[in-house]
Amino acid sequence: MGNSLVFLQRVSIFSGVGQDSLERIAGITQEKSFPKKSIIFHEGDRGDTLYILKSGRVKISKITEDGREKTLALMQPGEFFGEMAIFDEQPRSATAEVLDEQAVVYTLNKRDFERLIIEHPTIALKIMRDLTRRIRLVNQQVEDLAFKDVHERVASTLKNLAEVEGRPIGAKVLINLKMTHQDLANMVGSSRETVTRALNRLQDEGIISISHQQITINQPKQLQMW
Ligand code: CMP
Repeated sequence: MGNSLVFLQRVSIFSGVGQDSLERIAGITQEKSFPKKSIIFHEGDRGDTLYILKSGRVKISKITEDGREKTLALMQPGEFFGEMAIFDEQPRSATAEVLDEQAVVYTLNKRDFERLIIEHPTIALKIMRDLTRRIRLVNQQVEDLAFKDVHERVASTLKNLAEVEGRPIGAKVLINLKMTHQDLANMVGSSRETVTRALNRLQDEGIISISHQQITINQPKQLQMW
């Protein structure tokens, strides 16, 4: 069985699709790899390609002209992105950048993707479920930005990262992602200086420790409060 078929069988949006169709999907997707820090596409680009991430992580963000950045999401293997420009025929709504040593994606063009959805409505249902999950996360971000101070936002961002990227080490949790204070500030929606102060406070309280740009949550229960 081809590599791509083995992978596509595990992609959640294809979970209701039979073996024959999966083989066809494997035939119409193209595998591409992108090196670390490369930009898969920029916000504002025209695009009619869907990306399914096979390996590596991809950061989705909005970047202002003066270089300020807001991270919207970190895509994990098995997730898809680039669907918005396909569905509404608008330019790319955000920039996609490779975080790890490399990212491998499968690409699908608009025509093939739309045909697949029509042939397999279960794919549409899976995509709707995922888009709903994304709206919930955005709503949470809006609520946090409106009502939480930076210290609370840093704590709740770390809690969310621990859920997705966390590796348990005894009672502690290591966030398996190298992050500068600026990276975290871009996720939280604040300045690097303010986030550094919040991190220092969390370290002083013994709730987290930081070494080699990696954060360990020493007291996961304390973060649950946020
Ligand atoms: P598109 O607009 O084509 O290009 C950028 C992609 O980033 C977009 O499709 C989505 O796949 C993804 N994206 C944009 N905003 C978010 C968000 N808030 N959460 C998760 N993914 C997003």
